[in-house]
Amino acid sequence: MTATYNRTDWASAFRNVGQELSDMPVKASSGSIPEALIGTLYRNGPGRLERGGQWVHHPFDGDGMVTALRFHQQGVSLTNRFVRTEGWLAEEKADKVLYRGVFGSQKPGGVLANAFDLRLKNIANTHVVQLGDQLLALWEAAEPHAMDPVSLETKGISLLDGVLRDGEAFSAHPRFDPGHHGSPRMVTFGVKSGPRSTIRLMEFATVDDPSSGIKAGKLLHDRSDNFPGFAFLHDFAITPNWAIFLQNAISFNPLPFVFGTKGAAQCLQSKAGGIAQFWLVPRAEGKYAGEKPRVIPAPEGFVFHHLNAWEEEDDVVVESIYYSDFPSIGPDQDFQEIDFNLIPEGLLERCIINLTSNSVKCQRLSERCCEFAMVNPNNEGIKSSYCWMAVADKEQGNDPLQAIKKLDLSNGEKFIWSAAPRGFVSEPIMVPRAGAIKEDDGWILCVVWNGARCASDLVILNANDLSEQAVLELPLAIPHGLHGSWVDA
Ligand code: FE2
Repeated sequence: MTATYNRTDWASAFRNVGQELSDMPVKASSGSIPEALIGTLYRNGPGRLERGGQWVHHPFDGDGMVTALRFHQQGVSLTNRFVRTEGWLAEEKADKVLYRGVFGSQKPGGVLANAFDLRLKNIANTHVVQLGDQLLALWEAAEPHAMDPVSLETKGISLLDGVLRDGEAFSAHPRFDPGHHGSPRMVTFGVKSGPRSTIRLMEFATVDDPSSGIKAGKLLHDRSDNFPGFAFLHDFAITPNWAIFLQNAISFNPLPFVFGTKGAAQCLQSKAGGIAQFWLVPRAEGKYAGEKPRVIPAPEGFVFHHLNAWEEEDDVVVESIYYSDFPSIGPDQDFQEIDFNLIPEGLLERCIINLTSNSVKCQRLSERCCEFAMVNPNNEGIKSSYCWMAVADKEQGNDPLQAIKKLDLSNGEKFIWSAAPRGFVSEPIMVPRAGAIKEDDGWILCVVWNGARCASDLVILNANDLSEQAVLELPLAIPHGLHGSWVDA
């Protein structure tokens, strides 16, 4: 199948971020910025992909660079900073690659230089969220880094007031419960993987509660559960009563990593004949609090990201982006030369888990290749009418993400906004209008790689019909990114 995009445009986003800007004013180059949009859009993603002429093997190994786009009464301003991780600082000073990367990046010097170097470089590049007065740059295999929410100055690794131990894994996919149990909270997890794996489920307050004296950022609930088998869990979903994990049928053989020929993530592979499982962990204060987790066989396929979950009578419904197999970039492949036709595409599916029969029924919700899907954040954990996601410009088959799709989850009706042929979208963030009644009243914020300008644009769309509200040409070139969040002023 012929590509509908220009590969040079797509690949031009793989570069090092060359500037760190502070409060740089940004104006709309077309349209107008909604006056009611007051707050900050934070984005995280790999900002350094090459050092000393050596490229990362996979962009996910790039050092985290956080961008803040602040919307205030006077306009919009941009600040960006690399996260000053121990690894980034050491490599900046040495001006050479000193660490291996999880996705296959190696130190110079071949196998001998890499064998038995099992250190993890916490690259803080996956997500950025605010918890209390701290901005947290997240990377799932280790602790968060705290940053100043305004200046983006790195304060260092945060153990969250003693909640975490040194080096403890802390997911890059927290879920924000808008108030299923009275007060809003951040629900998240950490995984310790091995022949048996432990999931630690944590719930943190996200607002100050003067009546109880509980401050935002305080740990409210904490439980750990042990499961048989190696767990690879990037994301999860929540409902008022459950935290839902999908354990993909995947195996991990660490030997190539230990002997210096592969990165740790390249040692994951689909387990022939293996059965995926849903692990449902009861949430504190929910109907099943204190009970043991439920384990339910899940359909074939591989999932990185979930859209949402909700409960309906005796069913728990989970919507996720499924791949037919685990997509990875082998040691001999160049990520910039990847053939999209040869790797599986992500497709949105709904799985209905019946808690009485322990059975699962699934249905495809969209045939278009997608990633990075979200519902209105006020609907996290409850049934939603709509979702927004990044999709390919073509209707079927795998391709780079170039468009945004709004999908009506009840009847499949859709709206599409496309940046093709020269634009490439990142994760869309849905920001509800304050006080809105309708679920789709608000905006979609999306950083788009503009291949014509070789720089990034912020595109603001109306969430209801994806009509273009404004385009801001940013004075920065931001490589294809990962996750981000909106924080109201
Ligand atoms: Fe993710």
